[in-house]
Amino acid sequence: MLVPDGNTFLVHPMAFDGPCKPTTISFMISGIIIAPDSPEAWKGRNQGRWLIFKDVDGLSVDGTGMIDGRGKGWWDIICAKHGHLPGCVKLAPTVLSFLQCNKVSLSNILVVDSPQTHILITGCNNVVIRYLSVKSPETSPNTDGIHISSSHGVFIRNTNIGSGDDCVSIGDHTSDIYITDVDCGPGHGVSIGSLGKSGNEVKVDNINVIRVRFNKTTNGVRIKTWQVGRGHVRGVLYEDINFMDVKNPIIIDQYYCNVRGACESTKTGVQISDVRYAGIFGTSKSKVAINLNCSQAVPCTDILLDTILLAPSTPGKEVISSCNNAYGSSAGIVEPESCFLE
Ligand SMILES: *[C@@H]1O[C@H](CO)[C@@H](O)[C@H](O)[C@H]1NC(C)=O
Ligand SMILES: *[C@@H]1O[C@H](CO)[C@@H](O)[C@H](O)[C@H]1NC(C)=O
Repeated sequence: MLVPDGNTFLVHPMAFDGPCKPTTISFMISGIIIAPDSPEAWKGRNQGRWLIFKDVDGLSVDGTGMIDGRGKGWWDIICAKHGHLPGCVKLAPTVLSFLQCNKVSLSNILVVDSPQTHILITGCNNVVIRYLSVKSPETSPNTDGIHISSSHGVFIRNTNIGSGDDCVSIGDHTSDIYITDVDCGPGHGVSIGSLGKSGNEVKVDNINVIRVRFNKTTNGVRIKTWQVGRGHVRGVLYEDINFMDVKNPIIIDQYYCNVRGACESTKTGVQISDVRYAGIFGTSKSKVAINLNCSQAVPCTDILLDTILLAPSTPGKEVISSCNNAYGSSAGIVEPESCFLE
């Protein structure tokens, strides 16, 4: 399938449903695809999606073209930002959804101004995303770059993401995720979570974030879980990370809640273990550059801080590390000095 160069195509909400007979399917985008500019076009349809690929195996989406979600009409009425508006919307379309697709490759295209999440990967195995660009304003609400859930074997590399929410967010039931050579900013950083909101059994294993640069993001590498959650996040590697003026460079928040502090403390917690931070450099905009705020019910274990140099963004200010129920060790230079429980 080819979207030819030199043209702009207005495309209404659309699903490409498999299974398909060929073992590989090529979707080339050379031109520009734009979304309807008004939420009206979604009347009677799933408001959470625009372009969908479902049950398509061996799919390759490639090209020098662009997909424009024209999200502004949605950002202006979304409850997250405009709760006082009668008829505000909770849900807005994701530009590209890959649902139950195996062996997907997504390369080169530019995706801009999504009404909500830009790219969603759910129920997929073996996905490679490379040389992709995602761009939305810093102020656009809930516009995650790439969200992954219930998927195994996802590789994101040589990709540039700037948006109003997480550059990449990793949800539940995920394993073997590799995010390498990525530029993130503006945005909320690379997040695992939030997890365990409904008291469910979380299962997240082997997440790798390597050679990622964060520029002026509100978080850097973050793990966030709800106190009512159970299960585990195990085997996380953050390596060769650079922070430029980032608000919370390293953060584990096991007290995540709609309203900070408003969630009751519980006897449950998601167990976070085997998390390695190695080769981390740059500047922190806030005082607490390393914040390991772990569950009082199920502490974090086996956390390693290895070769870390974080300085304040504004010279002369102070940066510190803060530990709550965090067990682990450090190696090499670690600045600010680590604070593990013995
Ligand atoms: C960081 O982002 C700012 C815009 O917010 C940009 O001007 C600057 O070039 C970026 N720096 C790097 C090193 O990418
Ligand atoms: C840890 O989380 C608790 C509960 O939300 C909060 O009160 C506290 O300020 C957090 N600690 C840090 C250092 O952020």
